[in-house]
Parts: sequence; structure tokens; C-alpha cells
Amino acid sequence: MVIDIGAGTTEIAVVCYSGTVVSESLRIAGNHFDSVIRRYVKKSHDLLIGDKTAETIKIKIGTAYPHPVHDEATLEVSGLRLLSGLPGSVVLRGAEIREAISEPLGNIVSSIKRVLEQLPPELASDLLDRGIVLTGGGA
Ligand SMILES: Nc1ncnc2c1ncn2[C@@H]1O[C@H](COP(=O)(O)OP(=O)(O)OP(=O)(O)O)[C@@H](O)[C@H]1O
Ligand SMILES: [Mg+2]
Repeated sequence: MVIDIGAGTTEIAVVCYSGTVVSESLRIAGNHFDSVIRRYVKKSHDLLIGDKTAETIKIKIGTAYPHPVHDEATLEVSGLRLLSGLPGSVVLRGAEIREAISEPLGNIVSSIKRVLEQLPPELASDLLDRGIVLTGGGA
């Protein structure tokens, strides 16, 4: 099983003897995480940030599951205050970014589960032996 989390798409496939057995492709990947983070910072901190800043937040303090150290990680980001239109900055925590991206991440997980459900039972033990190859920039 290979999961490629790119910028625009996530592709999930089970490959056997060079053929694709089951696959699914969804348009939720790195770019989508960036826009969800942008929206979150705007809504919860009244701060407008650009795509590059959102991507930096994702890379520096974004995580997929709760972790005592990563949840406490912080990052100061600058943007424009929504009300005044003046420059401002906020300090973001890992835990809030994890929560902000949890919905699209959950969509990817659901898609992975759907692919697993279609897997021929005889391939299940191979999958348990070999695990999943997670690739792409968003991995
Ligand atoms: N350390 C990181 N943590 C999280 N996301 C990352 C990290 N490094 C890169 N990315 C994200 O990975 C994405 C780019 O991945 P990749 O280069 O695999 O995409 P692509 O092949 O160009 O896109 P696609 O496969 O959708 O056509 C970007 O959204 C980028 O923000
Ligand atoms: Mg790609």
C-alpha cells in the first residue's frame, strides 16, 4: 500500500505484481491543510496571513496526533489584524494547529479505511508484514 500526500491530491493505492488492486484519489492534501490553517488563524486570532505563512505553520508546528512535546511547540507569526488592518503577530501552539487540520486529516484516514475494506483478504497478511509506504511532501 502506497499513500502519496502531495500538494493538490492524495493518492492511495494497493499495488500487487505491478498492478493496482484498489485505489482512491482525493483532492485533499498539503494545499488544503494550508488553507484550513489560514482560515483558522483568521477566525480564531483575527489575523490575516498568506499561503506561505500558513505552509510554514504547518511544517513547523503541524502534527497529526496528540503528543505532549509537539502540542506545546509554539510559533510566532505575523500578518494583518482583521479589524485595524495594521500589522500584528500572534503566538500559535502545536495543539491548536493539530485541531485545525484534524478534519481534512480525518478525510484522508477515512479514504485509507475505504481502500483497506476493499482489499482482497489474501493480501491482508502481506500488508501486515510490509506496512504502508507513506510518501509525498505532506507525508
Ligand atoms: N515537512 C512538511 N510537513 C508537512 N507538509 C509538508 C512538509 N514539506 C512539504 N510539505 C507539503 O508537501 C506538499 C508538496 O508535496 P509534493 O512535492 O509531494 O507535491 P506534488 O507532487 O507537487 O503535488 P501533487 O502530487 O498533488 O501533484 C506541499 O503542500 C508542502 O507544503
Ligand atoms: Mg506528487
